[in-house]
Amino acid sequence: METVETARGCTDLLDRARAAGRSVALVPTMGALHEGHRSLMVRARAECDVVAVSIFVNPLQFGDPDDMERYPRTLEHDLAVCAEVGVDVVFVPSAPEMYPSWPEPPATTVSVRGISERWEGAARPGHFDGVATVVAALFAIAGRCRAYFGLKDFQQLAVVRAMATELGFPVEIVGCPTVREPDGLALSSRNVRLSPGERRAASVLSRALAAARDAVAAGERSGDALAATMRAVVATEPAVRLDYAVAVDTGTLEEVRTLMDPAAARLLIAAQVGPVRLIDNSAPVDDRAARDPDSHTAHDGADEARRLERTG
Ligand code: PAF
Repeated sequence: METVETARGCTDLLDRARAAGRSVALVPTMGALHEGHRSLMVRARAECDVVAVSIFVNPLQFGDPDDMERYPRTLEHDLAVCAEVGVDVVFVPSAPEMYPSWPEPPATTVSVRGISERWEGAARPGHFDGVATVVAALFAIAGRCRAYFGLKDFQQLAVVRAMATELGFPVEIVGCPTVREPDGLALSSRNVRLSPGERRAASVLSRALAAARDAVAAGERSGDALAATMRAVVATEPAVRLDYAVAVDTGTLEEVRTLMDPAAARLLIAAQVGPVRLIDNSAPVDDRAARDPDSHTAHDGADEARRLERTG
């Protein structure tokens, strides 16, 4: 496994691999690697000859400098995870390596209108511009590849897909299923900041999604009714402050009033739990694995994953 700190070094390694006829995978991360990241790397390892992982806590996507300061940094552990999975290249750039003008923010940024502006975009202004900008820069460094992202960040995946398609990057975007704790909580690097009580309460997000899936299975097609179902479940946990719970169109991410085709919709939920903002999502149609309380790696959105993967 090679660790490189410069963009040039990373590009050269991956160019050489392609010149030798090898396919390249990129797994962009901000470190603090958990089982969700590992699942992206394992899939990339299975599907490509050379696997590159980037570890960069991107300052452009944090509105609040304190949030960025508090973001967990676990480089030694992260490198051990990459080595275990058989990653070939770990790209660990500094901020000036990614953004030569740093500490001045770059003059050139990437903004995906529309889908970036609602839900997480409304709650965290500028967040998706930061994500789109760094991912575009990483794609430029990595070159032709397959890039692996989690469906857990559903809106991020949609933004990245739109950016890669519209700007013509030679990158195939692969969306990978969410990895969950046994009680349903979606894995996130932020979960470590929850107190034991908050951690218990946090599973209400996946329970709210499950209740909405049950309602769809029972024939409910009203977006408002599904939102109300999710709100009612979240209201049972006073420690959880709901931001939004909606059914949206998977393409536009606009709220849907009636789920004509449940497969073309997605349930999104976001809440504040103690110091942490948590997000989760699910296909509205049931998925057996997502409901298996004994599974450590229960995945949801498998159908959606199949639909979304290999686009771009
Ligand atoms: O999902 C993340 O960890 C980040 O948003 C990403 C895609 C690595 C960009 O910084």
